[in-house]
Amino acid sequence: MAEIDSERARRIIITGGAGFIGSNFVHHWSKKYPKDRIVVLDSLTYAGNRATLEDLENLENFRFVHGDICDRPLVDQLLKQENIDSIAHFAAQSHVDRSILGPGAFVEANVVGTFTLLESFRQYWLESGQPKHYRFLHISTDEVYGSLGPSDPPFSESTAYSPNSPYSASKAGSDHLARAYYHTYALPTIITNCSNNYGPFHFPEKLIPLMIINILQGKPLPIYGDGQNVRDWLYVKDHCQALDFVIHSGTPGQTYNVGGNNEVKNIDLVYLICRLMDELSEDLPVKPAENLITFVKDRPGHDRRYAIDASKIRQELGWIPETTVAEGIRETILWYLENQKWWRPLLSADYQAYYQASYDQKFI
Ligand code: NAD
Ligand code: TYD
Repeated sequence: MAEIDSERARRIIITGGAGFIGSNFVHHWSKKYPKDRIVVLDSLTYAGNRATLEDLENLENFRFVHGDICDRPLVDQLLKQENIDSIAHFAAQSHVDRSILGPGAFVEANVVGTFTLLESFRQYWLESGQPKHYRFLHISTDEVYGSLGPSDPPFSESTAYSPNSPYSASKAGSDHLARAYYHTYALPTIITNCSNNYGPFHFPEKLIPLMIINILQGKPLPIYGDGQNVRDWLYVKDHCQALDFVIHSGTPGQTYNVGGNNEVKNIDLVYLICRLMDELSEDLPVKPAENLITFVKDRPGHDRRYAIDASKIRQELGWIPETTVAEGIRETILWYLENQKWWRPLLSADYQAYYQASYDQKFI
């Protein structure tokens, strides 16, 4: 197993740190490594929310920068000014349904943004004398591998790329750049490809928070197609621990797949959420909540099944996911019930307009 290098105080830029996984990672890192310098770089798109980080704003070792990863002069300046040695790159457009409505923003943020960061970091790393401990961690998705049949083996690090949505195609492009910068320039990049995350601070448009919030509002629960699509659900806190191991002990130039070992069909997951909501929430507008389940027109190009073989990160870095879906969904529901002040403002007019544009054509 790899040696753990967690003694060194790091100075890290976390891009997309006001989003779902990025903010969970910022909290994880700040708590675990209070001596490390954390600089969050986030352009606060609809999915970014500075309030998520408000408990950290007064810490001496924390800085929030409202800016775009495509802004090369800004990135150049931050790297030097903050004497950065590591980048954890989460910033992206991340929602498949939005990529179907408008793919251009995905190419800009995911491909051009990653390219800008890599170029800036390469120049800075060269000027710094190519220190061995510098790291560029590129966080990506299992969706780059395409779709599995019911009895196919899970995705491994050597599975061929086969992206099917503008989102996954743009992430695949960014993965190829991160890989090429290691092979061409020896820049110490590492890629992680993870499965579907869930947990606190998840934007309401994604399946799990959408179901919880619609149940609280007595709104229909839209299930795409026949509901038999399978996702491998990874609790976000387990994911953050995996990324921590990868930054401290992962090998540059390598890819690590990170999965929850929790394959569930969408319809079964939604039934589980409904049952737990009936149990945990006192006054629901519709009870049992499963009465709200509504099958709707399928998402175009909808991948049937994702599953991750996480044996490499287990064997090399000693990471395993610790949270079962039953435990993690219960925790997540309790978090959404207790943190309505966080998510209610996100159901803005813009969000309603997106919801209408995406769902009106599906409810037929
Ligand atoms: P998210 O949409 O919740 O957050 C993305 C964040 O990036 C937001 O804070 C947004 O403001 C910021 N951002 C977007 N474009 C930017 C730009 N040009 N400059 C600066 N900031 C910008 O996404 P997430 O779910 O937290 O995903 C984080 C990363 O993990 C993404 O790269 C995504 O592809 C990957 N990923 C996510 C999942 C998942 O289940 N959520 C699964 C696999 C991989
Ligand atoms: P999502 O959370 O959008 O993640 P991804 O598309 O990246 O896997 O969706 C998870 C699964 O849930 C996916 O198979 C699509 C399905 N889904 C629905 O059935 N209804 C919905 O309203 C949403 C948002 C997703």
